[in-house]
Amino acid sequence: MTRTPVLYVERFSVFQRFIHLLIILSFLTLAVTGMALKFATEPWADWIARVGGGFEVLGALHRFCAVITFFYFFLTMILLYTSWKESDKDLFEFIFDPEGLVPNLTDLKEMIGTFKWFFGGKRPYYGHWTYWEKFDFMAVFWGIAVIGSSGLALWFPEQFSRLFPGYWINIATIIHSDEALLAAGFIFTIHFYNTHLRPEKFPLDPVIFVGSVPLEELKHERPREYDQLVASGELERIVTRRAPAAWLRRLATVFGLFVVTTGSVLIVAIILTMFKYIQHN
Ligand code: HEM
Repeated sequence: MTRTPVLYVERFSVFQRFIHLLIILSFLTLAVTGMALKFATEPWADWIARVGGGFEVLGALHRFCAVITFFYFFLTMILLYTSWKESDKDLFEFIFDPEGLVPNLTDLKEMIGTFKWFFGGKRPYYGHWTYWEKFDFMAVFWGIAVIGSSGLALWFPEQFSRLFPGYWINIATIIHSDEALLAAGFIFTIHFYNTHLRPEKFPLDPVIFVGSVPLEELKHERPREYDQLVASGELERIVTRRAPAAWLRRLATVFGLFVVTTGSVLIVAIILTMFKYIQHN
């Protein structure tokens, strides 16, 4: 009996995967070191500091990863610029491309459709980016703007207080600390659930590491994109029989599971600590 070969389609280029790897490494380290500083009196934070070589080392690691954050933000700008130049669209058309990354009315309809689907309706006709993926992408921008600018104020308080009154440093600490809590809470629960932990993907979707998805998966998950590729004749050009290398898949699984587990454990520690604080107040 001859087996039908599995076909694949590239979803993420090497450059996109590299940027996302920088995001994972820097964000996870920023969250672990930052939360250990925020909850420094807790035993788990003390354990992180002991493993990491002390609170001073955590502070230095935090600043190093902040630099990586600004670096990947810059790379993302280059990626967007080159994608625009490679498209045959003007800037307005590129930004507001119905299949692009900026949310539009279709996303609102698909969001409502998704909630209906949860209660027995039909699965929405998703395209290349779903509404929750677009939200995640936009969150990088406001997250970096808010956390990054307040973090710079904490890093360079003297320079900052030459421009703004000194009490703004206290405000920057609150903004930084609470927006960071929100960001970590969102990424380690909602983003992890949507991407890896929902039943269709559990325990991990390796696509952001290996780059390509089986064609059948694309057809099922993103039917609008599949139909568009078929209608434009592009599918034949991009489809390949080359599966992601076995070593890459294995590495992706081990690394991915390590990151998902670390983020999940951190969020459980934070939630338990918050409950403890509520009980004590
Ligand atoms: C991206 C640029 C960032 C910069 C420039 C930055 C900078 C800083 C600095 C200078 C501090 C003070 C550290 C110390 O006392 O040694 C700090 C604290 C902290 N950072 Fe960041 N950070 C950034 C991103 C993040 C991210 C992404 C998170 C978490 C998701 C985070 C979470 C925290 C937390 C929780 C604290 C402790 C605040 C407190 O004491 O309440 N930071 N950050």
